[in-house]
Amino acid sequence: MSRPDSLDRVRRRARDCRDCGLWREATQTVFGEGPHSAAIMLVGEQPGDREDRAGRPVVGPAGRVLDEALEVASIDRAALYTTNAVKHFKFRERGKRRIHQRPSVGEIDACLQWLRAEIELVSPRVVVALGASAAHALMGRATAIGANRGHPLEGALFSPVVVTAHPSSVLRERDREARGAALAQLGEDLRLAAEIARAAPENGRA
Ligand code: URA
Repeated sequence: MSRPDSLDRVRRRARDCRDCGLWREATQTVFGEGPHSAAIMLVGEQPGDREDRAGRPVVGPAGRVLDEALEVASIDRAALYTTNAVKHFKFRERGKRRIHQRPSVGEIDACLQWLRAEIELVSPRVVVALGASAAHALMGRATAIGANRGHPLEGALFSPVVVTAHPSSVLRERDREARGAALAQLGEDLRLAAEIARAAPENGRA
């Protein structure tokens, strides 16, 4: 009889994933982390330069923005399970720098097996999509953030999903005022997710 899967077993299997070509240039598979019974799961796009080296999700500049937004929403990051739609860093080299490249739909699809397993095993009450790639993975289709944020959505992979901007988009805003507004909106979306998690009688699943 096969043993039921655990997150640690899935993480070990994901280390050797060759289901798309991104493993060739990346340092390592960056799997999710956090409590295995977290009520809220955050899903980013893919590891960046820092995360690729550290082997941990959302710990670089985008992670610092995320921490600020979580503070705005009074959410303890240690209580969340944080992962990415794509588990390998996709980049092109420019001199010594590694420049982030958005994953393709094929790469998101190839990685869906790991995200699906994380969702099944953590069984969160709500999943937050940070940006368009995560929204695509969870919703099963291209999903515009601006038109869909602010209320829970029914996703193909899970329900309810809250979509919000990727934290790195806050860093790309042109001035301090715009950055402050974008951060506040991100905080609002995270607060909505926390409210949904609080109100949910039991863990939901699509
Ligand atoms: N951006 C993401 O979406 N995920 C990370 O882990 C880092 C940056």
